Amino acid sequence: MEKSEEEKFRVRKLEISDKGKGFIELLRQLSVCDSVSDKEFEDRFRELSSLGDDHVICVIEDELAGKIVATGSVFIEKKFLRNCGKVGHVEDVVVDSNVRGKQLGKKIINFLTDHARSVGCYKVILDCSLENKVFYEKCGFEQKSVQMAMYFD
Ligand SMILES: CC(C)(COP(=O)(O)OP(=O)(O)OC[C@H]1O[C@@H](n2cnc3c(N)ncnc32)[C@H](O)[C@@H]1OP(=O)(O)O)[C@@H](O)C(=O)NCCC(=O)NCCS
Repeated sequence: MEKSEEEKFRVRKLEISDKGKGFIELLRQLSVCDSVSDKEFEDRFRELSSLGDDHVICVIEDELAGKIVATGSVFIEKKFLRNCGKVGHVEDVVVDSNVRGKQLGKKIINFLTDHARSVGCYKVILDCSLENKVFYEKCGFEQKSVQMAMYFD
């Protein structure tokens, strides 16, 4: 029986084998991402895994094609403010250009915000370009303050 879109596109945590399923190529649709060797990938994967629930990268795999088509991450910041509160930082959200507009981006964001809520964060924040503002509003975010950045070359 043919799988429904819902079954076909499930969100799960990143696995080490996802490098072979186009995970790095997908990130390249978001920003500069030079080639990553298997060893570099494994080392970074283990480093991030050791952070447990404090750093989660999720993906959606097109299981028929064996290809990663969407991803996003959330990092949990621990504060002294707000009774030693926690804040979730959403980063690196991208959906493969071939499957945009199918609610996959929203699924990724829901997974990440559910995670942040479940570990006790009082808010989730992210930076985005103006062109993605409406997308994040549709995911339940509202615009706050101004983004600042300093890049180190
Ligand atoms: C932004 C991005 C993640 C959205 O993913 P997507 O899977 O196409 O989005 P969805 O299908 O889940 O969209 C959810 C809703 O937002 C709307 N939406 C999505 N992108 C939008 C945009 N750029 N402008 C206006 N509305 C948008 C959709 O129409 C949909 O509306 P609906 O619920 O009323 O039907 C995807 O376009 C992408 O990967 N872009 C390139 C990388 C990028 O800019 N990432 C964000 C970094 S901050």
